[in-house]
Amino acid sequence: MAGEYQAAYDESIRNPERFWGTAGEAVQWYQRFTRVLDDSRRPFYSWFPDGELNTCYNALDWHIEQGRADQTAIIYDSPVTRVVRYITYRELRDDVARFAGVLRGLGVARGDTVIIYMPMIPEAVVAMLACARIGAVHSVVFGGFAPHELAVRIDDAKPKVMLSASCGIEGKKVIEYHPLLDRAIELAGHKPDRCVILQRPQATAPLVPDRDLDWTTLLAEAEPADCVPLLATDPLYILYTSGTTGLPKGVVRDNGGHAVALHWSMRHIYGMEPGEVYWAASDVGWVVGHSYIVYAPLLYGCTTVLYEGKPVGTPDPGAFWRVISQHAVKALFTAPTAIRAIKREDPEGKYLQQYDLSRFEYLFLAGERLDPDTYHWASNLLKVPVIDHWWQTETGWAIAANYAGLEMLPIKPGSPTTPVPGYEVAILDGEGRELPPGKEGVIGIRLPLPPGTFPTLWQNDAKYVESYLDPFPGYYFTGDGGYFDEDGYLYVMGRVDDVINVAGHRLSTGAMEEVVAQHPDVAECAVIGVEDNLKGQLPFGFVVLKAGVERDEAGLVAELVRSIRDQIGAVACFKQAAVVKRLPKTRSGKILRGTMRKIADGQSYSVPSTIDDPAILGEIAAALREKGFEPLSQG
Ligand code: COA
Ligand code: AMP
Repeated sequence: MAGEYQAAYDESIRNPERFWGTAGEAVQWYQRFTRVLDDSRRPFYSWFPDGELNTCYNALDWHIEQGRADQTAIIYDSPVTRVVRYITYRELRDDVARFAGVLRGLGVARGDTVIIYMPMIPEAVVAMLACARIGAVHSVVFGGFAPHELAVRIDDAKPKVMLSASCGIEGKKVIEYHPLLDRAIELAGHKPDRCVILQRPQATAPLVPDRDLDWTTLLAEAEPADCVPLLATDPLYILYTSGTTGLPKGVVRDNGGHAVALHWSMRHIYGMEPGEVYWAASDVGWVVGHSYIVYAPLLYGCTTVLYEGKPVGTPDPGAFWRVISQHAVKALFTAPTAIRAIKREDPEGKYLQQYDLSRFEYLFLAGERLDPDTYHWASNLLKVPVIDHWWQTETGWAIAANYAGLEMLPIKPGSPTTPVPGYEVAILDGEGRELPPGKEGVIGIRLPLPPGTFPTLWQNDAKYVESYLDPFPGYYFTGDGGYFDEDGYLYVMGRVDDVINVAGHRLSTGAMEEVVAQHPDVAECAVIGVEDNLKGQLPFGFVVLKAGVERDEAGLVAELVRSIRDQIGAVACFKQAAVVKRLPKTRSGKILRGTMRKIADGQSYSVPSTIDDPAILGEIAAALREKGFEPLSQG
């Protein structure tokens, strides 16, 4: 590889301050940074430490000043409500400024936290940008999480105000959010001062006196608030993500590095130009939604599509092609699972024939491993580059990608191509030694991480260091395993911890185990992720009953499924479990989840030498066979 990519990559590693200092010029600063990287507090690093800016100004006001006031900023396309709305940059700025005034009026000031628990509607974007405008720190919680999960986030973020809507719409179901919000606040130790509720026509929420306020009324009465200059290192948002335990991690995003990195990525990775239409078919509750529905397209002066629908069933598997064609989308970013869902219902791609996709140039996929079958299907059907790229909530933007705007490298199905400029990716063995090409290990990133990545966890520097930096000193531990090939292409093979990916959603099996273990009949349990053709992985529970307990399996499983839905949420997709006599363990008592996963996926496995009783593996295989899996009968 010799060319634009290699030159940019080499420069970013050799001279990161020059590389990012140049990239930083594309962003508008109240006070231009004089230093690019502060590494005086290692292992903590900060980018553009003395720069002052405002993300909302960069995303809205600046474009208006540059003549984009009448350009569409958001296309809200909602097949579930049969609405398509075009919102210009001016209209969005005016709403955001007034909503920022609402927050001010409620006493929200710079540094205060605000939780946003909202569906995919323009007001969710307004809420995020309004926080950014006045320096409040937002934390968006995905609507598919149950009250308990929301409560855990309330207790960690301690929001002054919470923003929500009366309901979300999932396909044909109307999901009332207000009872979930009520329950979460009841469960949480911390209580927000106020909740502002947007009433949607599909459901009306009964407002709680002295706590709830009506969004529309407040907005109508509010005075607009201006952008506040913030330090580049001030937090823009917190986004909770699943770790290996039941306690999610509060990933912090700063203002300056984030704006610079996302701005850079829109051109160089996604090949976009200002004024063009970009669509990330995700949810504002996930990092993809933060970065590529809201911040990056707006920072770059693009039009972003906010899609309240599914890839299938709203109304059919042609939904994505309809949106691309109707709105002249240039690049779509979604998860492989969405493409698999379309392929399953329309394997021949008949629906595509109805639409003109002549303006469509790239399909970007991330969130889980892109299996070669899905890659080939999409690539043959769409006849545009299908670009796999790898990233995480923690990094906020791609770690490995191809470069539509810098240099398209040849695609190798199964690989998200090469490390993005700024990321010095290394494959490590158990002792933290770098491994050569062809050898699989844990993926680390040499410090410092580039701008836009998380500087720490919310009010928890110790956990940041312990979870991510201590495992391999000098590197950020990604939690993923993989290898490089001889051409420098990275292959990401999956998590090495207990995090699983269900339909592109990151979930913790540890959190599910905590819920299952609370059941009065359960002595111990293990939840693993098993392969699934549609969703990539699905959770599966193994349960050992307490001595003397006799239970019908179906009844118990139904109760466990209900508990996980109630405590974590429907999004966990926990539907299957088996009662077993014992769990396979090492002699020191560690449950052999990796071996169980291999058995469930029908992969060959070696019987660990440390296993307590190898016969248990046969029992696990038998339990899985009974549930329709095809495990190998022996290692
Ligand atoms: N609010 C409330 N409930 C939600 C929700 C939300 N925002 N999102 C999902 N749920 C619920 C669903 O209704 C479903 O509930 P059910 O068990 O009662 O049917 C459950 O959570 C599982 O949802 P999901 O995983 O979305 O499954 P699905 O069968 O409805 O749809 C796909 C399958 C593949 C179409 C869908 O998962 C999808 O579009 N995935 C793409 C994910 C994505 O974009 N990820 C972002 C990374 S880029
Ligand atoms: P999240 O933080 O929810 O974005 O999930 C991040 C995790 O998703 C990563 O650690 C990977 O395990 C997985 N992931 C994301 N993108 C890819 C990809 N392109 N290939 C393989 N795994 C991916």
